[in-house]
Amino acid sequence: MRIVVTGGAGFIGSNFVRYLLGKYDDLEVVNLDKLTYAGNLENLRDVEDDARYAFVKGDICDAAVVRATLDGADAVVNFAAETHVDRSISGPQDFISTDVLGTHTLLEAVRELDVKRYLQISTDEVYGSTETGSFTEESDLAPSSPYSASKAGGDLQVLAYYRTYGTPVLITRSSNNYGGWQYPEKIIPLFITNAIDDQALPVYGDGLNVRDWLHVEDNCSAVDAVLHEGELGEVYNIGGGNEVRNLALTRRILELLGKGEDLIRYVVDRPGHDRRYSIDCAKVRALGWEPAVDFEDGLERTVAWYRDNPDWWRRLKSGEWREYYAQQYSGLA
Ligand code: NAD
Ligand code: DAU
Repeated sequence: MRIVVTGGAGFIGSNFVRYLLGKYDDLEVVNLDKLTYAGNLENLRDVEDDARYAFVKGDICDAAVVRATLDGADAVVNFAAETHVDRSISGPQDFISTDVLGTHTLLEAVRELDVKRYLQISTDEVYGSTETGSFTEESDLAPSSPYSASKAGGDLQVLAYYRTYGTPVLITRSSNNYGGWQYPEKIIPLFITNAIDDQALPVYGDGLNVRDWLHVEDNCSAVDAVLHEGELGEVYNIGGGNEVRNLALTRRILELLGKGEDLIRYVVDRPGHDRRYSIDCAKVRALGWEPAVDFEDGLERTVAWYRDNPDWWRRLKSGEWREYYAQQYSGLA
């Protein structure tokens, strides 16, 4: 089986490439990635010499590259996206290009080349925020940010291709992932690495927003289950069942690193900040999947990973990152 993984040099994509090569002998993985600021081939150093793995540098909006890469593929898993909500607020254009047009370009190639399975990696953010209850796959889409609106645009195209052309598609919508190899702009790696360096941890608003944390390894096993067992044309929510307020998460990170709460800084809130995400995952659990990583254990392991891999994140926290940080957190940088 030949699987094309797009965005395989990013956080979840690289974990998924490693997961596939570790689990299956008889498969070939092609990683198509543009290598944006978030793409990093160092994430895959340990598998880059594996004969079953190949890397293609390219943009999912480039129809010629996409067609050439997908030719002969049995399945495509599309992780490639612009992914950071704050960056989508300061500059939405790349989100529309990659998350909307890129998805369209992939769907056209899948249709033309008769690829047998296309899995779109989406997000629980497409449902928007809810103070009570949990969203199911039938819930309305109500995205708040340019990021989540772009992801919703991708999802709607995917489902339209299924209805109109019978394109063999699947969608997963997962909650917040955490683990090793996550670019230090998202809350967990940013706060761990800032705390290691005794830098301030910028908490947006009152810090009482809730996110449901899913270890990246659990997301990988869920994506694998949906890719192989999911029903075509269907959407599957994937959550960790760990709803935690940002402030509680921040305090736990500080505690695990032996740092004081004086590092916490309350900063101006994110515009349109969703209060709470919560998804019902009965549908993916019916495929036999369940999360294996306990949140407390997963967070401890994640803190240890960043403590043990300073070269990896220190290289990233330079150049482009510094400019972004100064702009996003003026006053703190
Ligand atoms: P990431 O930002 O770490 O990585 C994105 C990858 O996509 C990078 O390697 C980047 O180079 C590549 N890429 C970006 N634009 C591209 C383009 N035009 N062509 C080819 N490659 C391109 O992202 P992530 O956090 O690993 O997220 C992966 C997917 O999972 C995304 O689709 C995201 O929406 C979704 N998701 C993420 C989370 C999370 O908590 N991180 C949760 C739910 C869903
Ligand atoms: O829910 C899934 C989504 O999770 C994915 O689709 C996105 O790609 C991913 O980035 C993530 O989005 P969030 O906006 O939830 O993640 P982020 O780490 O940016 O923020 C998590 C929470 O922490 C959110 O309530 C905002 C808050 N936060 C974040 C940062 C970066 C802070 O308080 N301070 C910060 O500096």
